[in-house]
Amino acid sequence: MSEQEEKIYCIIVAAGSGRRFGSQLPKQFCDLGGRPVLMTTIERMHQALNEPSEIFLVLSDGFVDYWSELCTRYGFDSPRIVIGGDTRWQSVRNALDLIPPGKSPVFVHDGARPLVDAGVVSRLLEALSGGVHGALPVMPVADSLRQWLADGSSIAVDRSAYCAVQTPQLFTADILKQAYEMPYSPLMTDDASVVEMCGYGDIALVDGSEYTLKITRKIDLDTVACMLGCDHKS
Ligand code: CTP
Ligand code: MG
Repeated sequence: MSEQEEKIYCIIVAAGSGRRFGSQLPKQFCDLGGRPVLMTTIERMHQALNEPSEIFLVLSDGFVDYWSELCTRYGFDSPRIVIGGDTRWQSVRNALDLIPPGKSPVFVHDGARPLVDAGVVSRLLEALSGGVHGALPVMPVADSLRQWLADGSSIAVDRSAYCAVQTPQLFTADILKQAYEMPYSPLMTDDASVVEMCGYGDIALVDGSEYTLKITRKIDLDTVACMLGCDHKS
């Protein structure tokens, strides 16, 4: 294995506008414990990778200068920046152009999930080393579930047949790069769906973490801040 192939890569996508969060400032730049959310995400990912690794940070064009000001203000060392696109899919795709082909493990992580869990990262690496096409952290669904039917009615479904999917998700560079060559479909809401649609269906599921929730709405940021205040050790 060459030196280049031994490196672990991580793409942190943070080019979204945070429509559901509903503030003018995209959620990844909002304050969490005295600095922007994204700095906690990057720092915790660095700590969790704990091996020769390179992180790419995907930002939208309009926020690159702002991020650079934030890094100066907080004395933060930014990873290499990639310009994102209109969809998460496009943002990941842009970053993949910078990752060399080969068998290197590539994590893809949402910038809006600041509390990266080192245990999840090591479970994913272990699963991928078993030769699967990809590895994902999942959580049991807490609420009861119903399925919408075509006539507008709904029916209860078996909750135990489903799980909720988190990030980071892990693949080898070659598989991820090949999968992202396919045309975009709105069903591609995460990286596993892209890889699966390309025919790579051998995906390992590992236990996720309650701490790695995605900040989607305002209440989620309050929850994450509370978790940080609880001195969560990841
Ligand atoms: N993301 C991205 N590029 C996009 C859209 C999303 O890099 N064009 C990133 C977000 O910044 C976020 C992650 O993908 O870290 C997960 O997306 P989501 O939670 O949906 O964030 P937003 O798209 O920003 O929020 P919303 O869907 O509410 O607009
Ligand atoms: Mg979105």
